[in-house]
Amino acid sequence: MPIPSPLPLPPSIEVHDLHFNYGHACALKYLTFNIPARQVTAFIGPSGCGKSTLLRCFNRMNDEIPGARLSRGSIRIGGVDIHQRSVDVVKLRREVGMVFQKSNPFPRSIFDNVAFGLQLHRMGNRSLLAQAVEEALISAALWDEVKDRLHESALALSGGQQQRLCIARSLAVKPRIILMDEPCSALDPIATAKIEDLIRILRQQVTIIIVTHSMQQAARVSDQTAFLYLGELIEFSATLKLFSNPAKKLTEDYLRGTFG
Ligand SMILES: Nc1ncnc2c1ncn2[C@@H]1O[C@H](COP(=O)(O)OP(=O)(O)OP(=O)(O)O)[C@@H](O)[C@H]1O
Ligand SMILES: [Mg+2]
Repeated sequence: MPIPSPLPLPPSIEVHDLHFNYGHACALKYLTFNIPARQVTAFIGPSGCGKSTLLRCFNRMNDEIPGARLSRGSIRIGGVDIHQRSVDVVKLRREVGMVFQKSNPFPRSIFDNVAFGLQLHRMGNRSLLAQAVEEALISAALWDEVKDRLHESALALSGGQQQRLCIARSLAVKPRIILMDEPCSALDPIATAKIEDLIRILRQQVTIIIVTHSMQQAARVSDQTAFLYLGELIEFSATLKLFSNPAKKLTEDYLRGTFG
């Protein structure tokens, strides 16, 4: 008997006719696309094209920027419009974690950094905390390097270890989605390779969106790639297809390094 193929997961994020403004300046326009669940999606495009703005829309981090607003369209995560009045932004940010370009551990111990989100959201009691911290550090491929120094300062870790600590911190609260904005741009090739290995493993559990200036990195880690230009989505397709046979001339020119 043939083995039935698994049913595809529903899309993780549905973006419909998204327009986004900083004051009068339009940073994103006419964006309509779906981000599949439990895959890696890369956003590429020249500086200023709106990659970080789009990423910050997904956990409403842009809400913190005065004058920044969604001027048209919608974003649904797990079927829910995230701009609905009933949406709890703190809960949204727990489900949609974020890792930044520059690792930003708190000047506290390694343990406290990972436990932070769990305590903030009052997830689990004291005895479960140590277990949850350990699990998150294992998932972030950092446990073996730090298990004997959990109560030392996080700032004593290397740049690559700090970035994996930030990933552990976001994993600890069991997000559905992790947004990564140029997570390797401050790292050397070895530390970068570790993060890329980690992304490949994590995609089995979470949906990952990564902004990167490295075409090689997008090609190595992502399942599909979105190419943005001047706030518009030019092309969004399977990574292999986009890099080997782009549908649009503009994508081809960008990949060739003609501009950007
Ligand atoms: N806080 C802000 N206030 C006003 N305008 C902003 C703000 N952040 C970004 N912009 C503008 O929005 C547009 C998109 O910026 P964004 O940072 O999203 O681009 P990006 O693709 O991430 O660029 P880079 O690759 O350089 O990080 C740019 O024109 C930028 O100047
Ligand atoms: Mg950016």
